[in-house]
Amino acid sequence: MIKEFTPEPLTDFSKEENRKAFEAALELVKSQLGKEYPLIINGEKIFTEKKIVSYNPAKKDEVIGVVSKANQELAEKAIQEAAKKFEEWKRFPAEGRARLLFKAAAILRRRKHEFSATMVYEAGKSWAEADADTAEAIDFMEYYGREMVRLAGPQKVTPLDGETNDLVYIPLGVGIIIPPWNFPLAILVGMTTGAVVSGNTVILKPASATPVIAAKFAELLEEAGIPAGVVNYLPGSGGEVGDYLVEHPLTRFISFTGSREIGLRITEKAAKISPGQKWIKRVVAEMGGKDAILVDHDADLNDAANAIVASAYGFQGQKCSACSRAIVHKDVYDEVLNLVTEKAKALSIGDPVNVKNNFGPVIDKAAFDSINRYIEIGKKEGRLVLGGNSDDSVGYFIEPTIIADVDSKAVIGQEEIFGPVLAVIKAEDFEDGVRIFNDTEYGLTGSLFARSRETIEKGREELHCGNLYFNRKSTGAIVGAHPFGGFNMSGTDSKTGGQDYLLLFMQLKSISEKL
Ligand code: NAD
Ligand code: ALA
Repeated sequence: MIKEFTPEPLTDFSKEENRKAFEAALELVKSQLGKEYPLIINGEKIFTEKKIVSYNPAKKDEVIGVVSKANQELAEKAIQEAAKKFEEWKRFPAEGRARLLFKAAAILRRRKHEFSATMVYEAGKSWAEADADTAEAIDFMEYYGREMVRLAGPQKVTPLDGETNDLVYIPLGVGIIIPPWNFPLAILVGMTTGAVVSGNTVILKPASATPVIAAKFAELLEEAGIPAGVVNYLPGSGGEVGDYLVEHPLTRFISFTGSREIGLRITEKAAKISPGQKWIKRVVAEMGGKDAILVDHDADLNDAANAIVASAYGFQGQKCSACSRAIVHKDVYDEVLNLVTEKAKALSIGDPVNVKNNFGPVIDKAAFDSINRYIEIGKKEGRLVLGGNSDDSVGYFIEPTIIADVDSKAVIGQEEIFGPVLAVIKAEDFEDGVRIFNDTEYGLTGSLFARSRETIEKGREELHCGNLYFNRKSTGAIVGAHPFGGFNMSGTDSKTGGQDYLLLFMQLKSISEKL
């Protein structure tokens, strides 16, 4: 009997015992810094000469770990092994595959703080952000395990006299899993385990900024008893190994989460048939956002300002769901701007290894430079109200930044910055606010703060994004409750953590027998 899914509780760090336990985990992870991790193909641990070195973004010279780096030859080996293994794994009972996920979730729950502490060091996440990331990873495994059990049961068809009629879900084949670095555990775990619990074998190519947490998860899967060859852990360069795997004729599907640029590149490459290829590749591509919080004149302004700050600056704004536009009714514009500014000033910037620092570094030098370029553009496009300064002498720190009086069509009103930069835009009225909200090629998340029922009902209809929230922040979707995925250039709307997700990695076989 499997008990009903309930989301993993978050850790209460106001309790001393929890703080002590997390500090112990930070010490443990510190003692592991610099360790070498092999790539894993069909259970074989391979140490290569070429490496990817993972650094701490808060202390840019501190090495988190050194990971072996695949080339095309190893990518070829991985895909051949995954294809061979698929013939076995697809016959492994669905309930057994689900039980493997429950086992992996149980191990991760036991080692929760260790995994979260790794993300504090490797990704620059605050304790609370890292803890939420690990909790979501556990949720994905618990949820997808249960979903697979449901989908393995009989599917509804119209019975005909003189026939037996069945409809069964079967897996697709070999999948390439390409996650981003910003939820280096949760998204990677959801993408990987969703595909394998559905009966597929995969090659997991982690993001190059966060390969150590990925290596730890690959080890955990082994500990949970996942057969060799089902998940092949293959760090490598996107251009070299990523393109090769995407184009390979044995690749049946690609599950990607990352930028619009790479998502579209993969979509285009996957559409081209390679010699020997027998199928149309399926592409799941979840991409960027230019998410907004719209504040109407009758909203609770304090709640709205809290939500804007949490959504704009949580994990330094490096979330696809981050609020990068605050669209505020002109009657309350100045008050909201003041409240948001005051609350953003109260954030504590610094190395997130210290629990008091709830605002850490951005991921790397490339992100630091790119965000700073947007700040310079923003200073010309609007009025700098807060922040704008940065310092990369020790780690990649950029102040929480607010640029007010921005036009919706401005560069910082349109392009995804993926950092702690908030554009504040004035709306003439609610209808103008809706127009600005939808004036983007993306469509991932968004919130409306309003009290009037009529306005809320209009918002439900008119605000166009995959995850729409009312009187709540735009980040922090909960598995099962807020299936996650976006419209338009935000991607294929795969709705991770929802009942439709596993269907993306399976095909339906209709079987009828004349009696
Ligand atoms: P990215 O596109 O740079 O990289 C994503 C992954 O693609 C990485 O693993 C990278 O190594 C790989 N890659 C790069 N080039 C490749 C190629 N040619 N072929 C195959 N793979 C290749 O994105 P990122 O910087 O890791 O993540 C940030 C982006 O992800 C933002 O745009 C953010 O909005 C988006 N994101 C979206 C969601 C969502 O659910 N919609 C969730 C998280 C992040
Ligand atoms: N699923 C993540 C959120 O909702 C990206 O913030």
